[in-house]
Amino acid sequence: MTAEVLVLPGEGIGPEVIAEAVKVLEWFTTYRDLELSIRSEPYGVEAYKRYGTLIRDEVFADLLQADAVLFGATGGPEFDALPREAKISGNLLAIRKHMGVYANLRPVMAYDELSDVTSLKSSAVQNVDLVVVRELNGGIYFGEPRGRELISDGIERGINTLIYTTPEIERIARVAFELARTRRGHIHSVDKSNVLETYKLWRDVVDHIGADEFPDVPLSHIIVDNCAMQMIRDPKQFDVILADNMVGDILSDLAGAITGSLGMLPSASLSDYDGNGRRRALYEPVHGSAPDIAGQGIANPLGAILCVGLVLEHSFDLPGEARLLKQAVRKVLAVGIRTPDIQTGNSRAVSTKDMGDEVVRALTRLSNG
Ligand code: IPM
Ligand code: MG
Repeated sequence: MTAEVLVLPGEGIGPEVIAEAVKVLEWFTTYRDLELSIRSEPYGVEAYKRYGTLIRDEVFADLLQADAVLFGATGGPEFDALPREAKISGNLLAIRKHMGVYANLRPVMAYDELSDVTSLKSSAVQNVDLVVVRELNGGIYFGEPRGRELISDGIERGINTLIYTTPEIERIARVAFELARTRRGHIHSVDKSNVLETYKLWRDVVDHIGADEFPDVPLSHIIVDNCAMQMIRDPKQFDVILADNMVGDILSDLAGAITGSLGMLPSASLSDYDGNGRRRALYEPVHGSAPDIAGQGIANPLGAILCVGLVLEHSFDLPGEARLLKQAVRKVLAVGIRTPDIQTGNSRAVSTKDMGDEVVRALTRLSNG
């Protein structure tokens, strides 16, 4: 059976950057040893206009069958204006939960070629190569009780619940430890255990998994506020950063600033393997819908394009092909081809589409040469 990649471009800059990612994926299916069917479906505001729902039921069901799901972005003023009920079923969080993709990997690489783009000193940023492993199916994003209620005349109360169980922490910790073994082998587990019980449990469980199953992997615990400061002060000290859903959300944006632009960051969200050795996988650029620049053809598609690299690596077990793509991206950056978010002095500003074309050209050159 041919493998299937299901593409949901979404809204904002999603469709623009995903078009370039699909172009790159098609290059691999045309010129390399990869057979795929690529199927695109409307998602979000576009789907709502056509079908009255963020995602059609059959597409929602197919998310569980696809070998990989490539997702653009969601959110923005048009999305906000949808009726409240319409925004709940099939929203991004519902998709992540439905697919059981609890392990969100957000690799952050400093490109020497972009050392003049970051607001940090290039000496501090050089050679940064870290991954944020973010828990994606639990924590305060999903905890109950939640909501808003009127408690007395004019006074409202908002409630969310930060909740984790032992198995939820164990499984994400194992992902981080396994990953660390394939890298430089150091984990920083982030929490706020000096104040919150849930994080005390987080720390205890991570400790336990480390001692019992991964005694070879050095583990440090770090309190979140200190972690944020250390990531700016000396990001090179980090290899694998293990964090819960909300802390991982915040620290991964911060990590984006280290390397210059959030537009450069891809992510992969993975489930466990099932009995047939398959796992579900959702790939999204970290940047989100960026409504302020949507439709102008200036968004940086490299985050989405680098998601294709993660697809090759994690869904199709083609690490060599993933490396080729990263090399192509580097080549394009090296000759000063830049979207506006990463443009400096003497580099050339190109459109979203041109950037995609340049990556494809670099792939062709590299594979011929
Ligand atoms: C992310 C985003 C999402 C999140 C939003 C769009 C719900 O910020 O993927 O980092 O908070 O998970
Ligand atoms: Mg975020």
